[in-house]
Amino acid sequence: MGAGAIIVAAGSGERLGASLPKAMVRVAGRPLVAWCAIALSAARGVDALVIVSPPGEEKAIAAAIGDVVRVHAIVPGGATRQRSVAAGIAALPTDVDAILVHDAARPLVTPAMVECVLAELAVHDGAIAAAPVADTLKREGAGGMIAETIDRVGLWGAQTPQAFRAEVIRRMFAEADPIEMDTATDCAGMAERRGVRVALVNPQSPNPKVTVPADLALVEALLGGLRIA
Ligand code: CTP
Ligand code: MG
Repeated sequence: MGAGAIIVAAGSGERLGASLPKAMVRVAGRPLVAWCAIALSAARGVDALVIVSPPGEEKAIAAAIGDVVRVHAIVPGGATRQRSVAAGIAALPTDVDAILVHDAARPLVTPAMVECVLAELAVHDGAIAAAPVADTLKREGAGGMIAETIDRVGLWGAQTPQAFRAEVIRRMFAEADPIEMDTATDCAGMAERRGVRVALVNPQSPNPKVTVPADLALVEALLGGLRIA
């Protein structure tokens, strides 16, 4: 079998401050989770798509996606992102060779991005979308003043999708203790701790995350120019 894809959409979106969970917020005419579901399901090699929903919102998530995308399962998430990923992994068919995890908060994901990350699994145990840091980095000191400039050579910003060979990611989650499930912020971080080699894949197209209200205008403008469905 091919890849199983998981969209983690169970967060509340506290920093966005909308009246509904972040994944359901509409941008450019569609809920964030729907943009992601359309892109992931259109990618070659993705055979099953699981959506991890805010607990109790499964029906609303199904309605947000509509019937254009075939979903294997919609399951309730956990208290942290990694607990939500674990719920998604548990709901995938057991025979997938690869597992790809994507944040509902990144609606600019494209089928090509998914395919590029999955293609790396022919050579590596894991691969993630990421981009080299472009800004000059400053560490803040006392009173909001600059304390130092950090050399940005070799620094990348981690994004999603993140993909792993299925047996590797299943083992990572089986081994993880409750502290790691509460504190790890992405799957690549869990992989590094175990010495799993993870490739960086520059998607070469914008893939911003919706975090605060100002991000909505940016994503709205970018999605206005994107035609994937
Ligand atoms: N996520 C999840 N389950 C959680 C927390 C987060 O599935 N318990 C998902 C979010 O839905 C999002 C992704 O993980 O797609 C990245 O998290 P983030 O951008 O931090 O989203 P939220 O946690 O919803 O936002 P905030 O931290 O502002 O509350
Ligand atoms: Mg969060």
